[in-house]
Amino acid sequence: METTGKLNQDKRAPGGYEVKAEKISIFNIAEIDYPIGEYQNEETLLDYRHLSLRTRKMINVGRIRNSLLKYSRDWFYKENWMEITPPLLVKSAVEGGSTLFEVKYFGDTAYLSQSSQLYLESMVYCLGPVWSITPSFRAEKSRTIRHLAEFTHLEAEMPWINMDDLIDIQEKIIFNIIENIKKNNNSELEILNKESKTKLNKISLPFEKITYDKAIDILRSRDCKIKEEKKDRLIEWGDDLNIESERELTKDKKNPIFVFNYPIEIKPFYVKQNSNDPKTGMAVDLLAPEGYGEISGGGIREDDLGKIKDRIIQSKLEPKDYQWYLDLRKYGSIPHGGFGIGIERVLRWILGFEDIKDVVLFPRTMSRITP
Ligand code: 4AD
Ligand code: MG
Repeated sequence: METTGKLNQDKRAPGGYEVKAEKISIFNIAEIDYPIGEYQNEETLLDYRHLSLRTRKMINVGRIRNSLLKYSRDWFYKENWMEITPPLLVKSAVEGGSTLFEVKYFGDTAYLSQSSQLYLESMVYCLGPVWSITPSFRAEKSRTIRHLAEFTHLEAEMPWINMDDLIDIQEKIIFNIIENIKKNNNSELEILNKESKTKLNKISLPFEKITYDKAIDILRSRDCKIKEEKKDRLIEWGDDLNIESERELTKDKKNPIFVFNYPIEIKPFYVKQNSNDPKTGMAVDLLAPEGYGEISGGGIREDDLGKIKDRIIQSKLEPKDYQWYLDLRKYGSIPHGGFGIGIERVLRWILGFEDIKDVVLFPRTMSRITP
């Protein structure tokens, strides 16, 4: 319907204005059994997401998603990094075999990409610093409030960098996003979560950086437990940081924090071993404050051909699927590293939403593929 008329200020009107209609044109007559009522449960709203997108909440989520992607892209364009468009139908796992989606591929099997990292790595030799925004797919078998089966992945890779540079770049990108949202997205924050504004105003540089060793010391001093079948036990060196430990580390923080130098065994095959401490690898995660958990993961890449081959085998992956990737080390390599930021994870934290499904327009999870 289109209405033309005079706009008058009117205190009684819900929006403060009222239109005195002069002409009304009707384009389509809607059926009367509209499936969304005033008070609907979350599942029904998700079943009808194609219609519930027309609510104030989802319109503003759409707007803030758009802004966040724009601020991320602007940063890379300003810094003169090259955008690439990697393939999403691939033959090899990046983040382990257990979360791969298999697809039929002309009589062969292919997978949906979990991460564009290996392709970005192949580009640093010819284009220098590169980045991409793609969907990434994870066949996550758990129903959690922070995992999607398809998410928006902002990934970057650069040559000639060390851990300090890598941390510095991520800090700049995240801070740039926050500063821009504070400056330009007041009206969306006002509608979606007023408290976010206060929270964002408290974020300042530099972000804290701690080693995995220090993280474990802190968690042990707070008696942080790991659930095991028979009995819970105290967390120890070698355990991965699960959501409970991430929450414990960040619950009183205002800023995100970096955790780096993880045990090499709990990180993927491509992580570079620390030469002065071979048990650890040069991986770094960025954890959002107040328990929102990991928003970015990355590290320096292993460039020793023999070590990567061993790690591929230890990870129970097929070396033949990585032949082209191994060639990148075999035929001339340079030190390089990169990271991947989960756009929905960042949005969930910024907006203070409980469930990640609320920051995606059409969420894909273990139990949801439509609409
Ligand atoms: O930590 P992840 O698995 O790291 C990688 O994929 C690297 N290959 C990235 C790189 O170095 N280029 O994923 C990176 C980020 C996580 O920190 C998280 O923010 C997000 O992607 N992420 C997910 N977001 C929503 N749902 C999921 N199932 C996610 N899995 C990862
Ligand atoms: Mg990770």
